[in-house]
Amino acid sequence: MHLPSALCACAWLLRELHMDLQSALCALRSLLGGVSARALPGVLHTLRGDAFEDLFQCNEDAVLRNIAGELREALPAEAMLSSEHQAMQKMQQSFEPTVHVDSFLYEDTLIDQLCEEGRMSRHYCLSCGSQQTAPLGFISHSFSLVELKFLFQHALPDLSGKTLVDIGSRLGAVLFGVLHADICTQASLLQDADVIVLNNVFEYFLDEDAQISAWTFINSCVCKMGALLVTVPALEESLGKLQTGIDLNHWVEEVQLDYNVYLGADTDSEALQNIHLYRVR
Ligand SMILES: C[S@@+](CC[C@H](N)C(=O)[O-])C[C@H]1O[C@@H](n2cnc3c(N)ncnc32)[C@H](O)[C@@H]1O
Repeated sequence: MHLPSALCACAWLLRELHMDLQSALCALRSLLGGVSARALPGVLHTLRGDAFEDLFQCNEDAVLRNIAGELREALPAEAMLSSEHQAMQKMQQSFEPTVHVDSFLYEDTLIDQLCEEGRMSRHYCLSCGSQQTAPLGFISHSFSLVELKFLFQHALPDLSGKTLVDIGSRLGAVLFGVLHADICTQASLLQDADVIVLNNVFEYFLDEDAQISAWTFINSCVCKMGALLVTVPALEESLGKLQTGIDLNHWVEEVQLDYNVYLGADTDSEALQNIHLYRVR
């Protein structure tokens, strides 16, 4: 086998066959046995490097990256709207200086590149004029590409014929759709939904009373048995801070997710572990 076909075969094998580690290593060893001696050093070199990562990119990644690229062109770097004043205020009140870096628009590799070019910084100066610096807090109000891949390729079942509602779609990273309304006016939408996504939806955007009303409304509408809720953070965490009176154990059961998946070099398993899935009882 020559170099390009050997690499494509390795990538295909690892991505498509859903093998466990031992079987994948065995298959890889036998595949490498068929690589010509001339091509082998090149194959091994590429397997260790970034170029091999590129072979894992699928068409969906390219489409999402194109959308993110177009949105980056159209939006200011901070990608916040003036109507998001509550979120801005919360950011300003954070313990450490925090900026909004939208992770759908800005992947880690792009942030690194912008930092190298001096167009973005991961640090702030502790005392002006000195070289003392501290890490800047980053917050994102969108799911990243890796989180979206985890959600749609690993966490959720086949969605054919299902209705998915993303509460607060913002830039449309989860769902490109047009329904501009307060969720508290959308009872039938929630009642009919099969999957409801709530990514850090209220905490940064509503005051405490409004958060309580929104959760109470959602709890009263989302009662179709088997409907799925995807939340960041865990429902226990969001509701634990509020006096909603919602009986979580009576409403939903948590579905355990396997966070130990490889979704590319940017996979941040800590961020993935904030994603929770629940089934309505
Ligand atoms: C953190 S963003 C999530 C964006 C998107 N779902 C994602 O995951 O990339 C939360 C969004 O929820 C919106 N939101 C907050 N309260 C809402 C409400 N009562 N009705 C509709 N949207 C709301 C916010 O304005 C914000 O755009």
